[in-house]
Amino acid sequence: MSEVKSYIDSHQQRFLDELLEFLRIPSVSADSKFKQDVLRGADFLERSLNQAGVDQVEICPTPGHPIVYAEKIVSEEKPTVLVYGHYDVQPADPYELWDSPPFEPVIKDQRIYARGSCDDKGQMYMHIKALEILNQQGELPCNIKFILEGEEEVGSANLENFVRENAARLSCDVILISDTAIISNDTPSITVGLRGLSYVEVEVSGPNRDLHSGVYGGAVANPINVLCKMISSLIDERGRITIPGFYDKVQELTEQERAKLAEAPFDLAQYKKTIGINDIQGEEGYTTLERTGIRPTLDVNGIWGGYTGEGAKTVLPAKANAKISMRLVPNQDDEEIVKQFTKHFLSLAPESVNVKVTPHHGGKPAVTPTNSTAYQAASKAYEEAWQKMPIPTRDGGSIPIVALFSEVLKVNTVLMGFGLDSDAIHSPNESYGIFNYLKGIETIVLFHHQFAALSK
Ligand code: BES
Ligand code: MN
Ligand code: MN
Repeated sequence: MSEVKSYIDSHQQRFLDELLEFLRIPSVSADSKFKQDVLRGADFLERSLNQAGVDQVEICPTPGHPIVYAEKIVSEEKPTVLVYGHYDVQPADPYELWDSPPFEPVIKDQRIYARGSCDDKGQMYMHIKALEILNQQGELPCNIKFILEGEEEVGSANLENFVRENAARLSCDVILISDTAIISNDTPSITVGLRGLSYVEVEVSGPNRDLHSGVYGGAVANPINVLCKMISSLIDERGRITIPGFYDKVQELTEQERAKLAEAPFDLAQYKKTIGINDIQGEEGYTTLERTGIRPTLDVNGIWGGYTGEGAKTVLPAKANAKISMRLVPNQDDEEIVKQFTKHFLSLAPESVNVKVTPHHGGKPAVTPTNSTAYQAASKAYEEAWQKMPIPTRDGGSIPIVALFSEVLKVNTVLMGFGLDSDAIHSPNESYGIFNYLKGIETIVLFHHQFAALSK
């Protein structure tokens, strides 16, 4: 057994215990009730980073939740790896759908069940354990810097300023992130594309109060009926989004690039089975992996209005609301898409109602090259640890700071993820495989060595 593997083997119980302690902190960024817990998350990281042997750690306050910065610089001659991760988690609601409480982690069937176990505490903590191993092996092969934020799940509003103001301090040769998924434990992959995001909230309002649906129904526009009609017109029968200009900047892939993506194994029957659907649906002319990887989408994330309590109440509601997200692909611009959406959505409104559109946070799509030194190093690291060459894939999720890093720091990012789609991130019963946690640590250690060797 390699030196790295045997170290992981003999310390595996402690590696797990430490992660479980981290997972017990409910660092939910979206809910101010957990503000102190988010701070405790940052304190935990400060201690862990010190224990793993960094030169210095700083908890940097922001108008929101703090950013944890740490570094260990061994030599100016060596390349520098900047690790990004997020220690905030999504809200755990609805609690009643969890088989065990979200912030009381349990291990069952070789998996760690807790909110954040995969996204992103588990994946982020692997980098701290990798540093511990690299440190005890001798002098680090690369300098290492950490930027760990507490606001990713709420849009990273304060990270942009921090990165712009600290660009010199953050200078590096590669940005390394573990916050994505692999195809399966038999088929490792490296994410080379992430979608962007535009997110809006809409409100349709009609009469100045809720009305009796018998007295007024049929003569007064019902805001919920109108909202549904407006929303349903946003996607046509071919699965195309009808907002004028929406596709103008979409980068179409060449047949060759599409063929390359199609090399990733995909089992449709299994896909349908794991999420309990009878059939798939999407834009005409594209495969499922293309629909989630290289095509933009529009989805209603929530819709409300009128009476939703027990029994029946005959009411013609005064208002209807919805939250709508659009996933974007290169070279769509999130702010431009919000403008196009707003203009179009307002134009759909009949005279009988008023419509308001409020934008939320968004983010730019990103693609990362496969011909960089960093990608080659990552590819070799997976090959050595997993005994298989990783396949480049495009993921449907978003990590908006990837585009920001490439703009401000002018450095390539490598997305070395170790999660699985079945880990149920953002859902009840989120989990992370112990195998993935330990194998990930090993792969990260190998990456540092490969990157140092290839950078010479
Ligand atoms: N780690 C995810 C993004 C992700 C998941 C990328 C799976 C690829 C595969 C991240 O924490 C996340 O949830 N991002 C949000 C966007 C953010 C602006 C709230 C998302 O994708 O909805
Ligand atoms: Mn994440
Ligand atoms: Mn997330």
